[in-house]
Amino acid sequence: MTDLSLPGLPGALPDKRQVAASFSRAAASYDSVAELQRAVGHALLEQLPSDVEPQHWLDLGSGTGYFSRALRSRFPQAAGVAVDIAEGMLQHARGQEGAHYYVAGDAERLPLQDASVDLIFTSLAVQWCGDFRAVLDEAFRVLQPGGALAFASLCAGTLHELRESWQAVDGLVHVNRFRPLQDYQRLCEQSALRVLTLQVRPHVLHYPDVRSLTHELKALGAHNLNPGRPAGLTGRARMQGLLQAYEQFRQTQGLPATYQVVYGVLQKPLIEGE
Ligand SMILES: C[S@@+](CC[C@H](N)C(=O)[O-])C[C@H]1O[C@@H](n2cnc3c(N)ncnc32)[C@H](O)[C@@H]1O
Repeated sequence: MTDLSLPGLPGALPDKRQVAASFSRAAASYDSVAELQRAVGHALLEQLPSDVEPQHWLDLGSGTGYFSRALRSRFPQAAGVAVDIAEGMLQHARGQEGAHYYVAGDAERLPLQDASVDLIFTSLAVQWCGDFRAVLDEAFRVLQPGGALAFASLCAGTLHELRESWQAVDGLVHVNRFRPLQDYQRLCEQSALRVLTLQVRPHVLHYPDVRSLTHELKALGAHNLNPGRPAGLTGRARMQGLLQAYEQFRQTQGLPATYQVVYGVLQKPLIEGE
């Protein structure tokens, strides 16, 4: 079994080409296992300011395009652009009744003009970015004054059961660290955007066994691609150790996997420096 996980802190992040390749490979399987992603994206949609009426929206890290379709049906008069770093994901999403434009690009260096959109929606993508400050700067740049950024991301504590279980087995990097909530808070407050809401909510999924969890992470493209990950396949003895260690977390519904989800809604002031 290969190691699986999600991205971590600046300095310990995977190569972006590997991230793109991994998500491209996962494009076909992603939708069938994206229960958490659906729940989080819908929760984020509910947090959009009630008066938001964009003419141009951006679905950033759009994946298979599920939320591009949701944005189009919510804002039928607006034009939408989907940006993703994984060409395979864009190919999958193209041709659907979602975005009007599909562009390959990086959230830290958006391929969009200044003040070109009035809503940025980004769900469970920016945890892959080592430089969240750059993400916020880019959002500020491409938003029109008064425009909003709504993001959902993952913070420290995510998949702690898997991390702690691996820790008991060999102490290697099988599950990465996520940016602490305090870093999200600090970077949002320091940005030129105004913070309307910022909160963390745990989402807990349950699995009958560890393999169901790790297979799902793989189908999502959420492999452990980080420097420091163990090389090669996991040996039978270590795997057995992992299964045993994870059992300490078992609940009546099954084995829990906790995701600490940060939701933020920020606005570009109408007047600069406001
Ligand atoms: C977990 S998927 C979420 C997809 C979609 N937003 C959803 O909720 O179903 C994460 C997506 O972010 C994309 N991604 C990762 N790093 C990115 C970056 N730096 N810039 C743009 N997209 C990125 C991946 O290619 C992948 O499609």
